Amino acid sequence: MSCTIIVGGFFGDEGKGKVVAHIAYQDHPTIISRGGVGPNAGHTVKVGEKEYGVRMVPSGFVYPEARLFIGTGVLVDPRIFHQEIDFLGVGDRTFIDYRCAIIEEEHIARDRSNEHLAKTIGSTGSGCGPANADRVLRIARQAKDFPELVPFLIDVPAEINAAISGGENVLLEGTQGFGISLYYGTYPFVTSKDTSASQIAADNGVGPTKIDEVIVVFKAYPTRVGEGPFSTEMPREESDRLGIQEFGTVTHRQRRIGEWDGQMAKYSAMINGCTQAAITGIDRVDEKCFGVTEFDRLTKKARDFLKKAEADIGAPITLISTGPDVSQIIDLRDEQ
Ligand code: IMP
Ligand code: MG
Repeated sequence: MSCTIIVGGFFGDEGKGKVVAHIAYQDHPTIISRGGVGPNAGHTVKVGEKEYGVRMVPSGFVYPEARLFIGTGVLVDPRIFHQEIDFLGVGDRTFIDYRCAIIEEEHIARDRSNEHLAKTIGSTGSGCGPANADRVLRIARQAKDFPELVPFLIDVPAEINAAISGGENVLLEGTQGFGISLYYGTYPFVTSKDTSASQIAADNGVGPTKIDEVIVVFKAYPTRVGEGPFSTEMPREESDRLGIQEFGTVTHRQRRIGEWDGQMAKYSAMINGCTQAAITGIDRVDEKCFGVTEFDRLTKKARDFLKKAEADIGAPITLISTGPDVSQIIDLRDEQ
């Protein structure tokens, strides 16, 4: 029984949502709680024929037995929250910490009209930067100030810590990725908060001594959406030749594609305190690996890639995703 954090190791969109969903089905957590910035994040989860893009509700929602929390550190946009719980039908098991700061229309307007944020940084325009600024200035309103949110309010840290003490499994999901951390990323081309595992613990009010595993998710070909340095970026013709094209879940902007970055993986694993790694998109390293669910059926090319990646990361790769569906994954955690 344990508390596990799942975070992105590169620039976001590593496929954390899918990894969270898989782990949830396997480990039966009673709580899945979100840390991270706010609705600037978009998680895509594909189950069978259905594909969902979520921005407020934890991506572990596909696992029906867990309560879903939004941690204290997260910014809540009530409009998006209501749309998602209605659409997904999860209103009876989704809860918000009463201290979450709220994104108001005016934050969104400021995010979109501010030349620096909208143009230079390439923000998602979801109001997160201005809302976090107001939170720091201590003029933001909190979830408890909004009557329509009252039915959803709880003390997230109290609930999570009680579950951990009771021997239950808890998943804490991060959003964004290491490379856009306010502290450790490519400042100023970053989001408005740290995105590392320590921040995700803090967002949920879980002390460092209570965390058992930190799973860092890396994608074989990293991507970046928005502006900023990307040392292993490929020319568009190269990624097109490889057949890789991706679009953002929130902004629908085309994502920039890069080669595996071993140095970044190593640094990211260090700061996140990575105990295990997940690699997504191994079917892009060798398309023959698409949908494979057993390690022994991976090709030599894929295995060589994983060996190198594992050496860079310095922690065992225990989860290998071979396609977008939740079922397309190799899980080696039992072999640890
Ligand atoms: P903001 O967080 O909306 O202020 O955007 C700041 C930068 O972070 C921009 O380059 C965004 O594209 C990027 N960003 C924010 N959230 C995500 C995410 O969830 N995935 C990928 N990039 C993100
Ligand atoms: Mg995303």
